[in-house]
Amino acid sequence: FQLSTQKVENSCPSNIALIKYWGKYENQIPANPSISYTLNACRTLTEMQFFPDQEFSVSTFLAGKEEKNFASKIEKYFKSIEIYLPWILKGSYKISTVNTFPHSSGIASSASGFGALAKCLMDLDLLFSSDNRQLTTNNQKASFLARLGSGSACRSLYNGLVVWGETPVVEGSSDLYAVKYPDKEIHPIFKNFKDWVLLIHEGEKSVSSTVGHGLMKNHPYSEQRFQEAKDQFVPMKDILKNGYLEKFITLVEHEALTLHAMMMMSEPAFILMKTGTLEVINKIWAFRKETNLSLFFTLDAGANVHLLFPNDNDCAKIENFIMTELLPFTKKGGVMQDEMRF
Ligand code: PMV
Repeated sequence: FQLSTQKVENSCPSNIALIKYWGKYENQIPANPSISYTLNACRTLTEMQFFPDQEFSVSTFLAGKEEKNFASKIEKYFKSIEIYLPWILKGSYKISTVNTFPHSSGIASSASGFGALAKCLMDLDLLFSSDNRQLTTNNQKASFLARLGSGSACRSLYNGLVVWGETPVVEGSSDLYAVKYPDKEIHPIFKNFKDWVLLIHEGEKSVSSTVGHGLMKNHPYSEQRFQEAKDQFVPMKDILKNGYLEKFITLVEHEALTLHAMMMMSEPAFILMKTGTLEVINKIWAFRKETNLSLFFTLDAGANVHLLFPNDNDCAKIENFIMTELLPFTKKGGVMQDEMRF
């Protein structure tokens, strides 16, 4: 099959975990299942040019600037997935990406980045294959490939609530790729939600998530943590089905704090929260106590705070509180306003 130079383009959103993935085994097998919301506005746009019959090489550009470190990471990644895409090393690549949010800031740019990359690879793969595969299969393979780049990326390939990791609670769930959490099992209140990300700290993280996952290997609480995450799927299913917002808030905030507690109890210990992160958490708790409004938070592996709240009649009051009381804790008044509607 002769192929001329090809250009494919895709975009993929980031995602934010509600039950967190933290700790993994060989070949990106998660130590526990996780569930996340796929975001909308926070995304990566990727353009991939493929020059067949050239010697294998990758050049990458982030927002127009060449990134050599990123290119060597992608080269390694492509080599590792040759068994699934036999043509992948038979040409050179120019990959240009743009994020709609700050790089390595705790908004998972690796999730949207590898998601978009995997979609591009699947587009190229279609050109090489003659069979008429279903789109769903294609998406599942994209999720599988994204997982091998960055674990949590596999959840970005689907909209809504998405599960990665085998759990008896979700039919068809797998350690190898993510699946959509069944829409009919979700109460409407969870289908129209906001996630405003407060950018507390925009620099690079002091400890990468790869190192963080690794530190779960000899962690004194790893087994208890993995079991807890597995167990969380039982109440989560009940919460999602019946619209138990208060229990949702308790569970989601517990998961966020547990993730960071694991970091603090690693050896060596590390802390990714900043002063502003803690100030914002305390402000949220005081606001909730005072108003009874459903504003709550989750955290990724970084200092930024994801502010979650239902998109309903109360949201104007919540948004006003965020803009007046919480914005001062951001570096440059940074907030990414995202929402999930499905
Ligand atoms: O996908 P990774 O290897 O960058 O891990 C990210 C893990 C967390 O974002 C902290 C939690 C999660 O489930 O997304």
